[in-house]
Amino acid sequence: MHIDLISAETFAQGHPLDQYQWLQDNAPAYWHDEPDGPGFWVLTRYEDVAEVGRSPHLYSSQPTVMIQDPDAANPTSSDDHQMMLMMDPPQHTQFRRIISREFTRGPAAELRPRVGELAAQIIDHVIDKGECEFVSEVAGELPSYVIAELTGIPLADGRELYKLTEIIHTSDEALQPGERNNAILQMFAYAQRVYREKKDHPCGDLASQIVHAEVDGRQLDEMDFQLFFMLLIDAGGDTTRNLVAGGLHQLTQNAEHLQEWQQHPTGELNASAREELLRVVSPVIYFRRTALKDHELHGQTIKAGDKVVRYFAAANFDPRKFTQPRELNLHRFPNEHIAFGTGTHVCLGQHIARVEIDVMFHEILSRMTNFKTLEPPEWLASNFISGIRRMPISFSKR
Ligand code: HEM
Repeated sequence: MHIDLISAETFAQGHPLDQYQWLQDNAPAYWHDEPDGPGFWVLTRYEDVAEVGRSPHLYSSQPTVMIQDPDAANPTSSDDHQMMLMMDPPQHTQFRRIISREFTRGPAAELRPRVGELAAQIIDHVIDKGECEFVSEVAGELPSYVIAELTGIPLADGRELYKLTEIIHTSDEALQPGERNNAILQMFAYAQRVYREKKDHPCGDLASQIVHAEVDGRQLDEMDFQLFFMLLIDAGGDTTRNLVAGGLHQLTQNAEHLQEWQQHPTGELNASAREELLRVVSPVIYFRRTALKDHELHGQTIKAGDKVVRYFAAANFDPRKFTQPRELNLHRFPNEHIAFGTGTHVCLGQHIARVEIDVMFHEILSRMTNFKTLEPPEWLASNFISGIRRMPISFSKR
C-alpha cells in the first residue's frame, strides 16, 4: 500500500480510509517520511489516538500541534507567547480556565434560541431560490456568526475573518508565497483593534474577559490576546462548517437515512444522527504531539523529540472499536467517536458545536427536501482539515 499522508491530494475526496486500515492492520506505529523535515510517527488505532491525548506527561503539545515545525517567518511563532492549543499543563490549565465556563454544557444550551434564530435567517435567504452553493451560503454562515457573537465583534466581520482561516488551513502547494503569513497578519491586525477597544470599553463578551484576565498575577498582553482570538475564530468557524457540509453530503449519498431523518426532524434520532455524522465526517484530520521521553510502542522505539501524529478519522473508522465502521448508521449507539479529540485539549467548543449542528440540521431537514448535488463537491486542499469547500445543490421547499 502506498502511504502518503502529506499530500493534500490524498484528502481530495475525503478521508483515505484504505490507507488508514492498512496502517492499523500492518503498522500501528508507522514511520512517515517528510519532504522538508525529519519525519513523523503515524498513529491510526483508536486506543492509541485516544490515549496519547490523555498523556501530556509523555506527549507534549509544544512546540506545535502541526506536523511542520514553526518557521521563523510565521507571525504566530514567538519564544515567549504561545497559543493555548500548543501549551502543556499547568500553563494550559490556567489559560483554558479563563474562558472554559462559557463553553460548558449549560451556557452552551442557553445559546440555543439565539442560534436557532440565526439558523432560520440563513435558510430564509436561500429557501425560495431552489438552488444554492451550500458551503458558503448555508454551512459556513452559522459558525462564523456564533463565534463573532461570543467574542463580541460584528457578525459580518466574523464572515470576513473566516475567509482568512480558510487560507491559513490551505496546504502550501495551493498558496502563493507569503499568502498564509499575510492572512495571519491581517487576523492579528484585526485582533489588535479588538484588544484596544475591549481594554477601554469592557463588556460581557469573551474578548473582554480575555483582555482583562490574569495568569500567575500577570495580565494577558496584546500578543496573548491575538493568539487566543485567532484560536477561537479558527477553531470555532471552520470545523462546524465542514461538519454540516460533509454531513449533508453523506446524507445525500445515503438516501434512505436522509429520508428517515426527514420524517422525524425533531425526533429521537437527532442526537445519535449528529454523533454519527461527527464520526464519519471527522473534520479535523490530525493533531500532532511531540514525545518527551524515549519509549516503545507496537515494537517501535519512539525517541524523545519525535513527532507523533494522531489521525482522528482513522480512529473513528477503526473496526477494533466500531462495528461496520464504513457504514453510516444514524442509530449507532454507543458511539464513542473522538472527532473532538481526547484528554487535556479535548475540544473546548464541543457543546456549542453540537448546538450549532442540531439547529442547522433541524432547519435544513424541516424546510428543505429533494437535495441534489449539481456538481461533484470540491474539497479543501489540506492535509489538516477535511472539508468540502464548494457544493452547489438544488432542493425543494417543504
Ligand atoms: C464539528 C466541530 C468541531 C470539531 C470536530 C472540533 C475538533 C477539535 C479537536 C479535535 C480539538 C482537540 C485538539 C487537540 O487534541 O490538540 C479541538 C480543540 C479546540 N476546539 Fe474544537 N472542534 C469543533 C468545533 C469547535 C467550536 C464551535 C469551537 C468554539 C466555539 C471550538 C473551539 C476549540 C478550542 C478553543 C480548542 C482548543 C482547546 C485546548 O487547547 O484546550 N471547536 N477541537
